[in-house]
Amino acid sequence: MEELSFFRQNEPVDEWKSTMFLYNSAMKQIKTKIEILKDEFVEIHHYNPIEHVAARIKTPESIVRKLKRAGREVTIENMKKYLSDIVGVRIICSFTSDIYMIADMISNQADVTVIAIKNYIEQPKPNGYKSYHMVISIPIFVLDGPVDVKVEIQIRTIAMDFWASLEHKIYYKFDGEAPAYISRELKACADMVNRLDKKMLLLNQAVKELEQEMKEREQKEEKKE
Ligand code: GTP
Ligand code: MG
Repeated sequence: MEELSFFRQNEPVDEWKSTMFLYNSAMKQIKTKIEILKDEFVEIHHYNPIEHVAARIKTPESIVRKLKRAGREVTIENMKKYLSDIVGVRIICSFTSDIYMIADMISNQADVTVIAIKNYIEQPKPNGYKSYHMVISIPIFVLDGPVDVKVEIQIRTIAMDFWASLEHKIYYKFDGEAPAYISRELKACADMVNRLDKKMLLLNQAVKELEQEMKEREQKEEKKE
């Protein structure tokens, strides 16, 4: 891989290896953390707020591209300093209300430091993109002691994710210059996603209320018997 050899020519191989080891460890750690939070949540509240979780490490090609785009020299130090999405985790949930709950659960972990938040749900991008972004850091305990590693977390609903993956494909297909009518239709889809998410949330609340009513009725009848 040409990009990887770019790093290797300029840096000792060990430095690259140990840096990637840290990023890999951070990815494992955050995935486990989310898994445990989910299990605990299911145990207590009897429902699973997380549909699925995907994680990836940025490829060397895309690290080099991003550093160059930012006008930075391609070095391991700059990559650690300026890139916060080498480790990326995406959490997909069912309802908009789950998003903030999950974000809080993660932020409340004692070893998690929240570095930045971008709330594209309250303030969607002009193209219609909605998602909740957090950059956090977690300590990774290696032989020399703890090292803080940054992780980018994106939290969104299934509907928002559906939209974002299509938008991403279109963006790349047209190199960021999609015909106006396509961008317009995509924005219209984003509005539909918005309405869908709102309706689904209301429907879910109605179901929960019915469930509660049924439970209360059953309890009353049990008492009578
Ligand atoms: P990047 O240079 O892309 O990392 O942007 P940024 O540093 O301004 O961060 P931002 O939080 O805006 O975006 C980070 C990531 O969110 C991107 O790498 C995408 O995965 C996702 N994202 C942001 N904007 C869009 C969008 O308009 N469409 C889609 N499909 N994804 C987006
Ligand atoms: Mg990015």
